[in-house]
Amino acid sequence: MTKPTANATPALAVDHTTAGLDNVVAAETVLSHVDGMAGRLILRGYDLDRLADWSFEAVLALLWRDLLPEALDESAIRVRLGAARQRAFSLLTPLLPSTDGLSSVEALRLLLSTLADSEPDAHHILAVAAVPVFAAAIARRRRGEAAVTPDARLGLAADFLHMLHGAEVDAGKVRALDTYLVTVADHGLNASTFTARVIASTKAGLFSSVIGGLCALKGPLHGGAPGPVLDMLDAIGDQSRIRPWLVDALGRGERLMGFGHRIYRVRDPRADVLKHAVATLRDGGGRIRFAEAVEVEALALLAEKKPLRPLQTNVEFYTALLLEAVGFPRDSFTNVFAAGRMAGWTAHVLEQEKTGRLIRPQSRYIGPQPDDAPVAAE
Ligand code: ACO
Repeated sequence: MTKPTANATPALAVDHTTAGLDNVVAAETVLSHVDGMAGRLILRGYDLDRLADWSFEAVLALLWRDLLPEALDESAIRVRLGAARQRAFSLLTPLLPSTDGLSSVEALRLLLSTLADSEPDAHHILAVAAVPVFAAAIARRRRGEAAVTPDARLGLAADFLHMLHGAEVDAGKVRALDTYLVTVADHGLNASTFTARVIASTKAGLFSSVIGGLCALKGPLHGGAPGPVLDMLDAIGDQSRIRPWLVDALGRGERLMGFGHRIYRVRDPRADVLKHAVATLRDGGGRIRFAEAVEVEALALLAEKKPLRPLQTNVEFYTALLLEAVGFPRDSFTNVFAAGRMAGWTAHVLEQEKTGRLIRPQSRYIGPQPDDAPVAAE
């Protein structure tokens, strides 16, 4: 006979004020600070706007400063990354066929997972170098094209585009991609960075930690979303349909892709930097001018419809335009995001490893107590 359950397990009542750890300080860092109320992103004392014309390698030197066993400046990092891209490429050929049938980000996850945490040294260099090599090869394989050997003499952004297109790329596009990689290099304790730090705190090793970061980035609520901005622009189609399309979408209660942010309440400083970078690119087919017109109309309609909720352009809007303009296919956008964010992940892992403290929070138990639990057949 089964004893009747006096107190069945209560319906799972998640407290939304704590479930997302909003406002919980879970780490101390010297790396970056997101000030949502002021619309500022600070990386080691520099506002993002001031870093916008730095190379990705210079920002790596900034983020890794004092965290590495040896001091590396921008040019040393550039040389080491070039050699590491060649090493990553040497591992690629037998592995690429096993990525068939996977999404681009799953393919990247698979390739990164072949790198051993017991690699003899300079994991952080190899981790940053491997992403553009793998991401470019994955994108080309999807088009039925062979992977292109890296050119170690180039900077990382230039070589990324060279490996993607199989040809030298114009300096304006290289500059724009460099700015993109810098812009997304680090962003406080976002979900993927937190994940990487938790794994690092168990001493699992650098590759395990950053692959965990990539797995968190893959989700549409984090890094898996810039494609939908382009889908929205495609669906609108032309200038004459901008306002009616947006009015209809808002009328159906839909969200306009590329607008709004959980933390930034005034402006997303990354959107400003990327908007400027996109404006320097040649406007093939008037796409950028069209997107700017969509932005103007969308901001006006959002302000009318949600006067109490500041909804500004977010980083994804201009990310989508920039990555499209420099030639990345839509399904590789998350991998390009990972190429930039690998700077932050590696720096946070190095920082976390220095503190040496296992991250082990508590949960609040809301299940039944032993006395209340149903007794199995007696
Ligand atoms: N379009 C229309 N309405 C919006 C939008 C939007 N883009 N964003 C928020 N709102 C409205 C909501 O409908 C809601 O209205 P209500 O109070 O009448 O229900 C109100 O603003 C608040 O919405 P929340 O979901 O509480 O806002 P939150 O700050 O949690 O959401 C998010 C942030 C998820 C980015 C949201 O703005 C959104 O869905 N934007 C569109 C998708 C997008 O651009 N994603 C990329 C984000 S950038 C990044 O994460 C890296």
